[in-house]
Amino acid sequence: MEKVRPAPPAWQDRESCMEQVAQMFAMRGKEKPLALVHTYGCQQNVADSEKIKGQLREMGFAFTEEEEQADLILLNTCAVRENAEFRVFGNVGSLKALKEKKPSLLIAVCGCMMEQEHIAEKIRKSYPYVGLVFGTHVIHLLPQLLWQALSSRKRVFLRGYGEEGQDIVEGLPVERDRDVRAWLTIMVGCNNFCSYCIVPHVRGRERSRTPQAVEEEFRELLRLGYKEIVLLGQNVNSYGKTLDPPLGFPELLRRLDRMEGDYRLRFMTSHPKDATHELLDVMAQGRHICHSLHLPFQAGSDRVLREMNRGYTRRQYLDLIAYAKRQMPDMTFTSDVIVGFPGETYEEFQETLAVVREVEFASLFTFLYSPREGTPAARMPDPVPQQEKSRWFQELLRVQEEASQRVGQALVGTVQRVLVEEYSEKRGLLVGKTEGNLPCDFAGDLSHIGAFVPVRITQSYKGALRGEIERNPM
Ligand code: SAH
Ligand code: SF4
Ligand code: F3S
Repeated sequence: MEKVRPAPPAWQDRESCMEQVAQMFAMRGKEKPLALVHTYGCQQNVADSEKIKGQLREMGFAFTEEEEQADLILLNTCAVRENAEFRVFGNVGSLKALKEKKPSLLIAVCGCMMEQEHIAEKIRKSYPYVGLVFGTHVIHLLPQLLWQALSSRKRVFLRGYGEEGQDIVEGLPVERDRDVRAWLTIMVGCNNFCSYCIVPHVRGRERSRTPQAVEEEFRELLRLGYKEIVLLGQNVNSYGKTLDPPLGFPELLRRLDRMEGDYRLRFMTSHPKDATHELLDVMAQGRHICHSLHLPFQAGSDRVLREMNRGYTRRQYLDLIAYAKRQMPDMTFTSDVIVGFPGETYEEFQETLAVVREVEFASLFTFLYSPREGTPAARMPDPVPQQEKSRWFQELLRVQEEASQRVGQALVGTVQRVLVEEYSEKRGLLVGKTEGNLPCDFAGDLSHIGAFVPVRITQSYKGALRGEIERNPM
């Protein structure tokens, strides 16, 4: 597909594009046009959508959940597995009728899927009512893109940018979804090229924000009253490698942990090949860093790990976990696992189960392998039938369920510091998370929302906890 470069001068003038977009809607009698943003996929996309919404808000948009009311519907898509893509195509398809009823509606599709040539081509050919398509590297050009899409009769496609060496654009406005927890992107992209994974192909090479930019945003989040800040990156442990001078992730964590305030700090995702003892030591010594670690291992067999290009062995992974447990006996672990990687045998899958049994993860994100066009694994022989893989998958779920049950049960009777996020009408209870990131609900009044509350755990069900406020905390 031909690349459209943001060359014409009017393209580059962000301010005037913003004004013109607002004026165009005002002329249609819409002082406050309404936007609906659907987000698929991981926290990176959630963070991107917050920047998209921030820019829309600056242009005068308000937000709605009702498709019928929206003047702009934007889908921020995920390409990580086939079923994520099916869902997006299903949803784009279902918008056709709405567009016919309301021709002024602008339908836009962005995100990771749009960075794949064949997918963007499919949108171009089969979904002619989609007026704007853009990729993951040009979110900051949203005002210009919207202006083009609204002012010309042509469809606008802008994708495939910024692969090498593109700086991270700072200073975009952010419309945050939550008021207790905030996402803070510290790096974008990925250099690992795990053989099954599309992310490096759609997100480009690893780039880190400067520690100054990260610290500034962190301070601002504390000032705004956020109580939990989650540092984001595809592989946070390789943070800072591209900076001059380089600065390691443990040092960044140390600096953030020194800030004054009553807050919690988490991060994701850690890659086992780059997670070091130094990182775990910083966690153990930290005042604000939660003792919870998301450390995806993907598979238990060394042969499969090699084929996946993961860069560690099962032993190295387990040693890291053992060191973490020694430093922080209260640590909770979570992980990602892929079942049925091409050529994985049942015996090799049993090694995955053995890791699950040994570590005792609080919870697992489990995925059936899904071939992604353009990745090396998609060309590997894959003889095991889908039905067989599904049986293995069920076996994994059963083993994990027992582990979650044991992890939760071990906390019954203890007092946990819970950060309260919201009130659940359905349960009639407050809902929050422990330091270990386990969900916990208990009875209490609404004034606790956004506060840390000591809760004595009375029950556990598959890793979800129930408790009551501890009146005499030690
Ligand atoms: N950067 C993170 C995770 C990114 S994607 C990391 O390296 O851990 C989230 C998870 O999706 C991965 O950990 C992996 O378990 C899963 N995943 C990625 N590609 C997949 C594929 N083709 N099929 C099935 N699961 C996949
Ligand atoms: Fe994908 Fe591997 Fe990068 Fe994670 S580390 S995003 S699994 S390539
Ligand atoms: Fe999906 Fe893109 Fe995240 S492919 S998992 S939304 S980085």
